[in-house]
Amino acid sequence: MGTHVRVGLLGCGNVGSALVQLLAQDRAAIAERTGLDLEVRRVAVRSTARERPVDLPDGVLTSDAESVVNDPEVDVVVEVIGGIEPARSLILDALKAGKPVVTANKELLANVGAELVDAAAAAQVDLLYEAAVAGGIPLIRPLRESLAGERIHRVMGIVNGTTNYILTRMTEAGATYSDALAEAQTLGFAERDPTADVEGFDAAAKCAILASIAFGVRVVAGDVYREGISGVTASDIAFADRLGYVVKLLAIAEQADGEVAVRVHPAMIPKTHPLAAVRESFNAVFIEGQAVGELMLYGRGAGGMPTASAVLGDLIDAAHNLRAGSPGRPLSPGRATIRSIDDLRSQYYLNLEVQDRLGVLAAVATVFGEHGVSIKSMEQEGELGGEARLVFITHAAKERDMQATLHALRGLEAVDRIGSLLRVVGPE
Ligand SMILES: NC(=O)c1ccc[n+]([C@@H]2O[C@H](COP(=O)([O-])OP(=O)(O)OC[C@H]3O[C@@H](n4cnc5c(N)ncnc54)[C@H](OP(=O)(O)O)[C@@H]3O)[C@@H](O)[C@H]2O)c1
Repeated sequence: MGTHVRVGLLGCGNVGSALVQLLAQDRAAIAERTGLDLEVRRVAVRSTARERPVDLPDGVLTSDAESVVNDPEVDVVVEVIGGIEPARSLILDALKAGKPVVTANKELLANVGAELVDAAAAAQVDLLYEAAVAGGIPLIRPLRESLAGERIHRVMGIVNGTTNYILTRMTEAGATYSDALAEAQTLGFAERDPTADVEGFDAAAKCAILASIAFGVRVVAGDVYREGISGVTASDIAFADRLGYVVKLLAIAEQADGEVAVRVHPAMIPKTHPLAAVRESFNAVFIEGQAVGELMLYGRGAGGMPTASAVLGDLIDAAHNLRAGSPGRPLSPGRATIRSIDDLRSQYYLNLEVQDRLGVLAAVATVFGEHGVSIKSMEQEGELGGEARLVFITHAAKERDMQATLHALRGLEAVDRIGSLLRVVGPE
C-alpha cells in the first residue's frame, strides 16, 4: 500500500474527528495518489469516556497526550487541541524527539510561534500550520511557496466567519447588531461567549500569522491594532450602502519602507471590491503583489471538514518530507519593525449627532480643517431647529490627525454624540 506513516493525533473534537473520518474514508485513495499509507495510531483526548462521531480501534484512545508524543510507534504528530498549554509543551516535545508537527492552532502560533519555529529549525523537522489562518483555504503554502519570490505589498482578508455572518445579516436583512449576533449563536456560527470573534481577537491572531508569512518577519498577536464590530450600527451599514460601500471586518497586513503595519478593524469597502462579495460565514484573502497584481483566495475559513482538509494536506507534506529525510525550510526570521496605527493613512467615515442650528456645520468643518483632515463628502439628515446627523467621508488622512479631530469635536458644544468612525479602504 505505500510507505507506512503512523500519526499521533492530539485532540479529537471538531477538527480531529473530521480528520479521522477523512482518513478512514480515503486512506486507500490517498495511498494510491501519494504513495503514503497514513494510519491514525494513537489519539489523545481530555475524556476517553465521551461519545465521539468516529470509531477508533481499542487501545488507540488515551487521555495521556504525552504518551502519544513519546510513543516510538508515532512518526508524525497532529495537534488539534487548541489553546496555549498543554499544546505548546506537547509540540515542543514532539519536535525535540525529531517528529514533524502539524497544527491548526492560531492562538498558539500568534503568541509563541517564534519559539516553536526555532525548535523546529533546531530539530530540522517540519512544523506546518496551513489550517491555522483560514481553515480550509490554502493560504500559507501559496504565500510561502508559489509567491516566494513576490514582493507583497498588502494582504487584506475576511478571516473570521462569525463576524462576516453578523455583518452580512445586518447588511442584507437590516438586522441590528444584537439580533444578528443572537441569530449567529442560534445557528452555531457564534459561541455563547462571542468576545474572541466579535472583538477581533481571533482575526488579530490570524493577521499576525499572515503578516509573518507574507513578509518573512516575526509578528505577534500583540502587535496587531484591533477593533471589533460591536460598535457598528444598522445606521452605519445603511449609510455605507447608500454611499456605495459595504462594512466588513478586515485583517490588514501591509509592508512599506521596511516597516510592517498590522490591524484588524471594521472597514468600509467599495461594493465593487472582490472582498465585498464575500458573504455569510465565508472567508477570503486578497493579496496585492508587485508582479502578480491582485489575487484572491476564497472558501470555508472554518468547520471541522474544511479545516481537516488543510490539516491532511500538511500531514501528507510532512510525511513525504520525513520519508525523504528532508524537511521543508523552517524559517526563523527576525522581529518586524511595527508601524504604529498613528502613522497610517486612510480615508474615514464619521457619523456625528449635532444640534441642527446655523453655524454648526461651519464649526465642525473648521475643526477638520485645523487638523489637516480634508472632507471629501458630507450628508446631513434632520430638520433645522432639532437634532441632525452629519455623515462625513474624508480624503486620506493620518490616523493621528483624525484622532485629534475627534478629540476637538468632542469639545464642541454643538456636538451631542460622536457615532462610529470607520476606515474606508479602496481607491480615493
Ligand atoms: N473548528 C474549526 O472550525 C477550526 C478552524 C480552524 C482552526 N481550528 C483550530 O483547531 C484546533 C481544534 O479546534 P476544534 O474546534 O477541533 O476544538 P474542539 O472541538 O474543542 O476539540 C478539542 C479536542 O482537544 C481535546 N483536548 C482538550 N484538552 C486536552 C488535553 N489536555 N489533552 C488531550 N486532549 C485534549 C478535547 O478532548 P475531549 O473531546 O475529550 O473534550 C477535544 O477532543 C484549535 O486550535 C482551533 O483554533 C479550528
